[in-house]
Amino acid sequence: MIRSVPKIGLFDSGLGGLTVLSALNNALPGVPKVYYGDTLHLPYGDKSDTAIQGYSIKIVQFLKDQGCDLIVIACNSASASAGKVLEGRFPELTFVNVIDPVVDHLAQLEKDKVGLLGTRATVRSEAYSLKLAEKNPEVSLCALATPLLVPLIEDGFLGTGIDSDVLAHYLNDSALEGIQALVPGCTHYPLLKNVATALLNEVQWIDAPTIVAEQVAKHWNNNEVGEDTFYLSDRTDNFLSISHKIFKIDANWELVRLSE
Ligand code: DGL
Repeated sequence: MIRSVPKIGLFDSGLGGLTVLSALNNALPGVPKVYYGDTLHLPYGDKSDTAIQGYSIKIVQFLKDQGCDLIVIACNSASASAGKVLEGRFPELTFVNVIDPVVDHLAQLEKDKVGLLGTRATVRSEAYSLKLAEKNPEVSLCALATPLLVPLIEDGFLGTGIDSDVLAHYLNDSALEGIQALVPGCTHYPLLKNVATALLNEVQWIDAPTIVAEQVAKHWNNNEVGEDTFYLSDRTDNFLSISHKIFKIDANWELVRLSE
């Protein structure tokens, strides 16, 4: 049997993982990547761990069947809720989640107080604070659930001013008082970077997708090239138009509904 070119698989509930894909395209240009957006089950952040694990297992099996050797869990909610389960279920694959590389970065940052915005699932898991406490207990991390941000991005409200109002409301939360750096702890949130940095005074914005992409590059030692492929569990005009507008992706998004 002819072995197909090794590929990197990425998945998210929707558009968010494309921020990781963009960073990965800079770090590893030409490497074939397979992206799966589980738009049918968006948002993941409000689902139970059991539900997120179930979706993630099916997606990883699909990505494996497409020839992916390395899987980037390009979603914080899935990294937090399903990361360990996936590693146990697919020992033959290499996984990079979006939390560990950022925690390693924060542990070296020499800041006392760091803020994190995330989905309910990510904040509930305490994944960032528990891992950071192990790596560097000197850094305190305050996490705030910001569930309005994903629907706002997926519904096309970026750049309307409403994004800025909602973000300002969250950033005024007393839990974030005194932070010196802010982590976009959801892969959708890097899309709010310009709005956020205009609101943040002297607070460092952490470039999470680049940090994750650098970690992926350390694990990848194939130099064969190929095309990227894109799949969705629900194909909507809204998704196609936003992925074109923001990420300039004109590819054919193939509809693949994984069995329930
Ligand atoms: N982009 C994802 C994350 O990083 C999921 C957002 C959602 O579907 O709630 O958490």
